[in-house]
Amino acid sequence: MAIRNVGVVGCGLMGSGIAQVSAQAGFPTVVREVSKPLLEKGLGAIRKFLQGGVDKGKLAAADMEKTLANLKGTTELQDLAGCDLVIEAVSESLELKRELFGALDGICRPETIVASNTSSLSITELSTFTKRAERVIGLHFFNPVPLMKLVEVVRTLRSDPAAVQEASEWCRAIGKTVVTVGDSTGFVVNRLLVPYMLDAIRVFEQGLASRDDIDNAMKLGCGYPMGPLLLGDYVGLDTTHSIAQIMFEEFREPRFASPPLLKRMVLAGRHGRKTGRGFYDWSTNPPS
Ligand code: CAA
Repeated sequence: MAIRNVGVVGCGLMGSGIAQVSAQAGFPTVVREVSKPLLEKGLGAIRKFLQGGVDKGKLAAADMEKTLANLKGTTELQDLAGCDLVIEAVSESLELKRELFGALDGICRPETIVASNTSSLSITELSTFTKRAERVIGLHFFNPVPLMKLVEVVRTLRSDPAAVQEASEWCRAIGKTVVTVGDSTGFVVNRLLVPYMLDAIRVFEQGLASRDDIDNAMKLGCGYPMGPLLLGDYVGLDTTHSIAQIMFEEFREPRFASPPLLKRMVLAGRHGRKTGRGFYDWSTNPPS
């Protein structure tokens, strides 16, 4: 089955990006949020990004209009009934996802692929919340979704290879490069990235180097696009902490343990860019 109509659940940082790239590639896309204000916030972020593309000369104004015409926002899950692929991008709560996957299972056609953008929860466990385990996979996008070229396509022991292939073809159709990975907590990217970010926080916590020196060391010494502390702010320190907890729970290895400073920054509401303060102060000029 070729994927035509796409649904996205959640219009936050990741969901809005996924809905945008889907609509931009010409797929009629419905994106669902729980409330009108949250939906409007997500759609506003999409409009802002597209307008930024037009202003930078990266996107024709007509293509922005076409993208917006392909995009429909809703607060009703029922509006995803006609989708061939539904991608869930809600908060990393197993309980929330249990409820959502159960509801989607009742709403969507049996052949619809139900995918999760989770970065750390088990796709196999999510598949048990449905009666279509063979059509449940992971599609793990990266932030910022419109600019990052990778999608990790996650197969479980029960995933139908045809579903994996159909979803991979759709990812390529929206301009992404696919890597196929098994269902192990953190998949490939976070398995390697998260301990690196946590170690950078430990280096800072131990006073080995300043924030800027740590970030410059990795930026200029390794050619990374941004340093690990800035990346933490960018991803969200609350998200990083929560992924670390899930990975530690799974592997019980010290390298996945959240450093005490990270825990305290999260408790203090310093979640990075999204709250205006993390390792950097985002309230005035965004750091570069
Ligand atoms: N529309 C179209 N194109 C745009 C655009 C827009 N609104 N905004 C920017 N661009 C283009 C720019 O024109 C530029 O294109 P060229 O390379 O052709 O010149 C490109 O996108 C990069 O944009 P900028 O120059 O403005 O920004 P930058 O060079 O500082 O890069 C970045 C920004 C892409 C975020 C880069 O810093 C980066 O790659 N950082 C690392 C991000 C990362 O690691 N993400 C993964 C996080 S982990 C995760 O997501 C997984 C998880 O589960 C936690």
